[in-house]
Amino acid sequence: MNAPTKGLGIQAPAYVKNAKLIAWVADMAALCKPESIYWCDGSNEEYDRLCQQLVDAGTFQKLNPAKRPNSFLASSDPSDVARVEDRTYICSANKEDAGPTNNWMAPAEMRATLQPLFDGCMKGRTMYVVPFSMGPLGSPIAHIGIELSDSPYVAVNMKIMTRMGKAVYEVLGADGEFVPCVHTVGAPLEAGQKDVAWPCNKTKYIVHYPETREIWSFGSGYGGNALLGKKCFALRIASNMGRDEGWLAEHMLILGVTSPAGKKHHVAAAFPSACGKTNFAMLIPPAGFDGWKVTTIGDDIAWIKPQADGTLRAINPEAGYFGVAPGTNDLTNPNCMASLDRDVIFTNVALTDDGDVWWEGMGDAPAHCIDWQGKDWTPQIAKETGAKAAHPNARFTVAATNNPALDDAWDDPKGVKIDAFIFGGRRSTTVPLVTEARNWVEGVYMAATMGSETTAAAAGQQGVVRRDPFAMLPFMGYNMSDYFQHWLDLGKKLQASGATLPRIYTTNWFRKGADGKFVWPGYGENMRVLKWMIDRIEGKADGVDHITGVSPRYEDLNWTGLDFSAEQFATVTSIDKAAWQAELKLHDELFEQLAHHLPKELPATKAAIEQRLAA
Ligand code: OXD
Ligand code: MN
Repeated sequence: MNAPTKGLGIQAPAYVKNAKLIAWVADMAALCKPESIYWCDGSNEEYDRLCQQLVDAGTFQKLNPAKRPNSFLASSDPSDVARVEDRTYICSANKEDAGPTNNWMAPAEMRATLQPLFDGCMKGRTMYVVPFSMGPLGSPIAHIGIELSDSPYVAVNMKIMTRMGKAVYEVLGADGEFVPCVHTVGAPLEAGQKDVAWPCNKTKYIVHYPETREIWSFGSGYGGNALLGKKCFALRIASNMGRDEGWLAEHMLILGVTSPAGKKHHVAAAFPSACGKTNFAMLIPPAGFDGWKVTTIGDDIAWIKPQADGTLRAINPEAGYFGVAPGTNDLTNPNCMASLDRDVIFTNVALTDDGDVWWEGMGDAPAHCIDWQGKDWTPQIAKETGAKAAHPNARFTVAATNNPALDDAWDDPKGVKIDAFIFGGRRSTTVPLVTEARNWVEGVYMAATMGSETTAAAAGQQGVVRRDPFAMLPFMGYNMSDYFQHWLDLGKKLQASGATLPRIYTTNWFRKGADGKFVWPGYGENMRVLKWMIDRIEGKADGVDHITGVSPRYEDLNWTGLDFSAEQFATVTSIDKAAWQAELKLHDELFEQLAHHLPKELPATKAAIEQRLAA
């Protein structure tokens, strides 16, 4: 029986045959000293049981089943609400390999730092052994991880976010490879000590050892700090695997676009955290686009492997969405709202008096609710104190299969063929609505120099522009300049094979007018831009050349069903020479920071832009 095992006996279930895994669990148990070990099987029965256990512990509140069947609300400790980038480390053997954008510590020094923290860190708790596949089970693009965690909240979230359970061991076999991920909330319980609803530790370490492909996470129970399949494995460790093995691990959604004639294209799009990625991945075509269909393969991460024929095929390594709730509503993302009807874990949203959830931007505020910190909240209190009912980085965890716009091929082990890449920053000025790179190198330049105004997904200051190359700044597992080189090398390799390379676009939905308001309506209306891209790929649309690439003229987009004037279009597409001169100075600063191994193609592309700007 797969019940919690008292004491430190390993007693792996008979279906676990991997000797390396069993030995590693034994070692980690000896270090972390949990009271018991529980091997997750990924069954629904197990999920229900662990959720009930979380309710009993006060971590979860069950929502009103008449309103939100089989759904729960967790409220975190107020100090544990977002990824902690300043506590995230890439511990490569050489500092240069982590690069200037990552925190680094020598592996031996980090191991010596973590040893006393992990020693006994799970006392009084159960250690959950969570087997998961990133990507469809057995897919040639997928990889396996095992997370050891003392958080049942992590175990149930991993059930939704990954292909988690027994079947993983069949793929793993007796000697298959896995990425070992150790996670602790860092709050051991002394004998008789009562637990709290959201245990965590003031000290936090999110640590990656790229050479040995290990992840160690201490002190946080929240999101990307704790669900180690997501940012830690699928981006930071996988980017290292991709560099060594010739593929890409990207912070990209993947969507399918089907025309009324039934022709389908696939697009992978990178946006910084909390810039509406989930909205774009679930876009509903607006009026004027009858017969067009957008379907979701993934909303956050793409693993992309080149094939023998020179095409790129992509999978979504995840199986669920851990999305930002505030701002999501029936207008901004109806598919997402429908996905959240049932079977959801909400974290840090507000609880309404009828046992449902609410967040800022969902719709009319309730007259009263309990905010994410458990306090009374009313619109009046909000007015007087500025208190938010939901934390700005409040999240939902929901299975991809809840999404009404889920693509038929979302779970296809072969993945889907990528026809275009999009890189979209959040910029109130300077960067036009959409630009097509004239070639792969120009596309890599635009992605490498992307800037974005910061959001709530990471702890820290909001609203300042930071360079976020490829939307990967917080997720890059090695030297950023080597990563640029990896993209350039891949382009060369694909070109040499005679294949048609995916086109590369940049977008900016966030230009503001003189009144400080967004000009572009965004959301479903982004379909107009998406269709222009598809038409370009098919050789059916025109555009105009400018300093950084090709953008549509007003007449190149379909405006049926939208009242958007040529003047408004000019506001979101104009190229302001002075702003670009200032922008290029910032590119210089970035290149100075990334000088070590910076590919020469990038300053050369910048020089060409400068020449066009001067012309
Ligand atoms: C996310 C992020 O949670 O990018 O997806 O922060
Ligand atoms: Mn993300």
